[in-house]
Amino acid sequence: MDDSSEPFGPNRQREIYAGGMLADQRPEMPISPDELREEALEALSEEAYAYVAGSAGGEDTADRNREAFRRWRIVPRMLQDTAERDLSVEVLGEEIPVPVLLAPIGVQSIIHETGEFASARAASDVGVPFVSSSAASATMEDVADELGDGTGWFQLYPSKDPDVTASFLERAQQAGYEAVVMTLDTPTMGWRERDVENAYLPFLDGEGVANYLSDPAFRETLSAPPEEDESTALWEFIEQFGDLSMDWETVEFVREQTDLPLILKGLLHPEDAREAVRRGADGIVVSNHGGRQVDGAISAIEALPEIVEAVEDERAMEDEDDDFALLFDSGIRRGADAIKALALGADAVLLGRPYVYGLAIDGEDGVRDVVRNFLADLDLTLALAGQDSVEGLDRSVLQEKQ
Ligand code: GLV
Repeated sequence: MDDSSEPFGPNRQREIYAGGMLADQRPEMPISPDELREEALEALSEEAYAYVAGSAGGEDTADRNREAFRRWRIVPRMLQDTAERDLSVEVLGEEIPVPVLLAPIGVQSIIHETGEFASARAASDVGVPFVSSSAASATMEDVADELGDGTGWFQLYPSKDPDVTASFLERAQQAGYEAVVMTLDTPTMGWRERDVENAYLPFLDGEGVANYLSDPAFRETLSAPPEEDESTALWEFIEQFGDLSMDWETVEFVREQTDLPLILKGLLHPEDAREAVRRGADGIVVSNHGGRQVDGAISAIEALPEIVEAVEDERAMEDEDDDFALLFDSGIRRGADAIKALALGADAVLLGRPYVYGLAIDGEDGVRDVVRNFLADLDLTLALAGQDSVEGLDRSVLQEKQ
């Protein structure tokens, strides 16, 4: 981790204010998440922007993801001596320096020519784990190389062909990823009005398919190699990607194929969370995929408290004492959002669209700036709430407003 970012909040503020007052420089990256998004709009093609910013249907779930955070209010405590703060958390038995990971987001080549390489390097530099997508625009092996010593997890979309799934899992382990994040909520893509209107699907343009086109098991299914007949390979990808017959047996299958910890992503119902524990998952991500799958769905933050309770209850029944990672994404934009999710019982949160907007605006530097600003905000909000450690956060920090 870069020392200049510790402690994140006051250092970052000083760096920015000094730049302004002494050298007449404003931060290159917009600070507010809305302005970040607006500037990304300028940087991207209409289709790419719509793909990233868009959500399912009327985008009601995405709106709700934001709105629902307002129901919880932080109640700051005074005179608590927060001069020293500990933002580290333990996830899957490993300490991570801050309670934040970069969410799996595919197809980053449509965002910036440096794509996932830039995001992986920035994550590694700032010290946050990077979750590399099955639908990345570079192979998982090449992304792992860019991560260097940084922590990487691999996000899995199970393929229709179990041999392809098994091959992905083997490659991820070989490439040095430390966990598998299996996405459950995307057995096929949601009805995304913006993409449908644009008739735009980046995969059919050959973007976001590197893991597939390089995969020996996937290539076996083709009558000609993708280098000779790309179009057929891309349609085969579309065929492989969606599997609406996915069920708990698929989880069992994945579990059997890898020694890596298995985290199930996309849970919103407490019963599904209980089942995840019963099936021996090592963690879950409470998430609605940033509102991209089911329009009119429950927000992730509304789902979180009951899921925390269900997981605790189920784990107590199973007499589990090993580490279980309870992670959260969907709607995290600012430090206060993270504090609320952590206080409601998440071990760490995943940051998604904001970092991709940073990538759109300024490549690797953009991602680094966005993540540093986010951590600064998180750190200062923690301190000013009268809390000196993330591990110490609990529900008593919050008040619920109806
Ligand atoms: C794929 O996972 C997407 O959300 O576009």
